[in-house]
This record gives sequence, structure tokens and C-alpha cells, in this order.
Amino acid sequence: MSFNPNLCRNESEVESKLIVQYLLPALGYDPSKWHQEVALGNIRLDFLALTSQVFPSATDSSPKVCVVIEAKSPKQNLNFHVRRLSYYLTKLQVVYGVLTNGKDFRIYELVNEQVKLNFQCQGAEITDKIKKISDIIGRDRLSSVAINKSIPAINLLSLVETITQPLTTLKPKTVRNMKTIAIYHNKGGVGKTTTTINLAAAMSRKGLKVLIIDLDSQANTTYAAGLMKFDTEEDDTLKDSNIYNVVFYPKSSYIPDIALKGTFTYPEVDVIPAHINLIWQEARLVDKDSSKTHLVKKLELVKDDYDVVLIDTPPSLNLYAKIALIACDYLIVPSDLKPFANEGLRNVKNFVEEIDEFRVFINRPAVNILRVLPSKILTNANYVKATLPKQEKVVEERYGFPVLETRIFQREDLSRAIDNFVMEGDRQIPDPKSIFDFKPDSMSAAEFEELANEILSKIGLRS
Ligand SMILES: Nc1ncnc2c1ncn2[C@@H]1O[C@H](COP(=O)(O)OP(=O)(O)OP(=O)(O)O)[C@@H](O)[C@H]1O
Ligand SMILES: [Mg+2]
Repeated sequence: MSFNPNLCRNESEVESKLIVQYLLPALGYDPSKWHQEVALGNIRLDFLALTSQVFPSATDSSPKVCVVIEAKSPKQNLNFHVRRLSYYLTKLQVVYGVLTNGKDFRIYELVNEQVKLNFQCQGAEITDKIKKISDIIGRDRLSSVAINKSIPAINLLSLVETITQPLTTLKPKTVRNMKTIAIYHNKGGVGKTTTTINLAAAMSRKGLKVLIIDLDSQANTTYAAGLMKFDTEEDDTLKDSNIYNVVFYPKSSYIPDIALKGTFTYPEVDVIPAHINLIWQEARLVDKDSSKTHLVKKLELVKDDYDVVLIDTPPSLNLYAKIALIACDYLIVPSDLKPFANEGLRNVKNFVEEIDEFRVFINRPAVNILRVLPSKILTNANYVKATLPKQEKVVEERYGFPVLETRIFQREDLSRAIDNFVMEGDRQIPDPKSIFDFKPDSMSAAEFEELANEILSKIGLRS
């Protein structure tokens, strides 16, 4: 048997064609010796391959001889994922980690608390080098290493014990009841993107499978999700694979083909990126009436894959905003409650009415306006006590929008989390984070946690 990297066009094909169909059998792991999508506490592994021995008392912190395998899309540069894999290996004390995108194949090893590159080859060389790979991480080899060095080979349960967190595997596909929420206001800068990113992170931390869709040509959500780490246009991998493809093509560019894993939070969230080219591509879409419903149809195909889909929208009444409001079940309207934002609510209301008329034709119920979210609210105590309640009342009484109980205050940590970066040599690489990954003990993290709880109970995903 051999492996052909050209067959892997996206992450799920790397998982199925390289890892499940070729690598694991070639290394001697039969299906009873490996597990897919294993959640250990807040770490979610793509694959975990184990030897057959069971060490029920392996609650000590010595290294465990097993293999974590992380698959990435061929479009992703593995360099950006080494840090995450190193974290898994050191946190779980697992000796071997494989990182591959089908084109690049690497084995990392935990040696004296340091994670080192042990082996690397190209995808096209994997078949030729499978013996060498097997000599490092093959099942027979790991069983003998474990026996000779009396390092515990491990079974899944003992690994769970070591991190003292319950094992939770993902919900079976059939029980999901996917809800799609658009975050929209036609006024700019009110916190739509900040809400999308941090709400997604809060929900993902609760074990929900979340998909973000960026429908704004500014691509701020795409950036904030960590998907714009390239320096030059030549390296722009998003140009030909983004939300435009999803809404333009009726019979290709399905959500699993285009979705990427965001690097801004953990557990990971899938993201359909946007692109600056959406601006001029809009004209092509306008000429094609069916483009308004392609997203609805493609979301229907992944309804068992996600619990929540969050759609970030442009500050506009344009076609992309329409597509978002046609595809969503619910709408959240972030607003700083200032006069312009309030006056803008009339536009939002008229716009939603127009969309609802269209939705009748495609047999979709009216948009469920979940509420206005007070966002970027000043923390000044007098303001919060005296003025804010009045402003919230105005929104309810004059504009007819109910207001969420949770308020997201203006706090510097939120913008600093998105502006986070790392240095690689003398290169400054953007490394945006959700507030939970940047400053988990902050007031903003607590506010987004509260927001997630309020929204989940309103949409029936939490009692
Ligand atoms: N609660 C907050 N506290 C502090 N800064 C915030 C907060 N919310 C948003 N910001 C900052 O305000 C700016 C605008 O926020 P954001 O991009 O989320 O708004 P938006 O509604 O998505 O804007 P646009 O309409 O341009 O897409 C950003 O610089 C962001 O970091
Ligand atoms: Mg935005």
C-alpha cells in the first residue's frame, strides 16, 4: 500500500486518506488501538494511538509511550502548530507527536521535558520512509520501548487519570441541533467582530462544536481567528478558498472544504474565512440570484457537525449582510447604545423585515431577533448607574428591541488580545487570542462567559 499526498485537499482528507487509511495500519495500530477526536480536559486531540498494554496504576507523571497525531489542512504551515503540539506533549507527558498536513510530515519527541523534532520528510516520501517511521513510532517498537525502559505504555483511562479530568468524547453526530446566529448591526465599530470571536471561544470551552463564518470583506474576524499569518500576497492562501467560494458555487466549495481551524482559542473553532476581494466579487454575486441561498443549503449539510454557527457581518446593508440574515436562525445586534447606533436600529429593523419577506419564499421562518447586546459600554460608575439603564430602556421602548441582560464593557484587554503577536527571529507574527486564551481571569472573560450562558439558554442549548 502507498500514500499519494495529491489526494489530500483538505484537513479531513489528510485525516482519512493519510492517517486512517495509510499511516495507522502501516504502523501496526488496528482500530482498537487508536482513538479519534479525543477530548482530555480542555485538550482535544485529532488522534491518539496506543500500544496494547494496560497500566492501571499509571497515575504518576512519568512520560507515556503513545502517539498524539495532529492533522492540518495542506494549506496550513506546520510551523504555526508546533507550539500547540508541544503543549499537548508536555501537558499530557506523551512521548511522541506527529504533525502533518499531507505535504509535510514531522515526528516530535518529548525528551527531558523538551519537545524536539525527531524526524521530518515530505508527504511524497512517506511511503518510502515508512520503515524508518515505524522504527520510531510503530506499535511494536513502542511496546518494546515501554518494556525495556519501564516507561508506562498507556491505555486511555490511565491517561485520563493522570490529568484528573473526565474523558469526554464528542457528542455523537445525530444529537446535534445546530443553531445559526448572525451578529449584525449596520453601524461600524460597535463590537460585532469582538463579540463573534469571544462568544465562539466561550461556547467552544463549554464543549460545543462551533463554526465561525466571516462575511465581511474587512476580514477582521479572519485575522482575529489567527488565519492571516502570511506576510506577502504570494503567500495569501485564502484568496481562492474563502466564503466567496461557498456562496458563489452551488455544487462545490462545501463548508468542510473551505473551513480552517482558527488558532485563537482552544478547543479549536472552525472558521470560514473572508477576503478583501469580497468587495469587488459582490457585483458577480448580485447578478446571480441563487447565490443568496447557497449558504443556507451548505449549512444544512453540516447540521450534524456543529452545535453553533456564528456569522460575522459587514457594517452595511449589502449583499453579504443579506446572505447572513437569510442563513441565520437568530440575530444578535451589538450596540454601544450611542445615538447613531440607536438610530441605526431603525435600519436594522427595516432590513430584517425585507429579509423576512424573502425568507417566506424559501420556506424559512422569520429571523428570530435574539436581542440587542450592550457592547463597548463605558465602565464609569455614574454612567452605569444613571445613564445606561435609561439608554437600554430607549432601545426597548423607542426601537422595539429587547436588550440582553449581559453587558460587554469597554476594556483594553479585549483589543490587546486581538493585537497579540509572537516573535520568530526578528519577524513579528500576529498571534491573536480570544480573551479566554489571553487573560482568562479578566473581567471581559467573565462577561463573555455570562453572555454565552445567557445566549445558550435563550436558544435552548442550555437549561
Ligand atoms: N468591549 C470592548 N472593549 C474595548 N475595545 C473594544 C471592545 N469591543 C470592541 N473593541 C475595539 O473596538 C474596535 C471595533 O470593534 P470590532 O471590530 O469588534 O467592531 P465591529 O462592529 O466588528 O466593526 P466593523 O463594523 O468595522 O466590522 C476594535 O478595535 C476592537 O478591538
Ligand atoms: Mg467587524
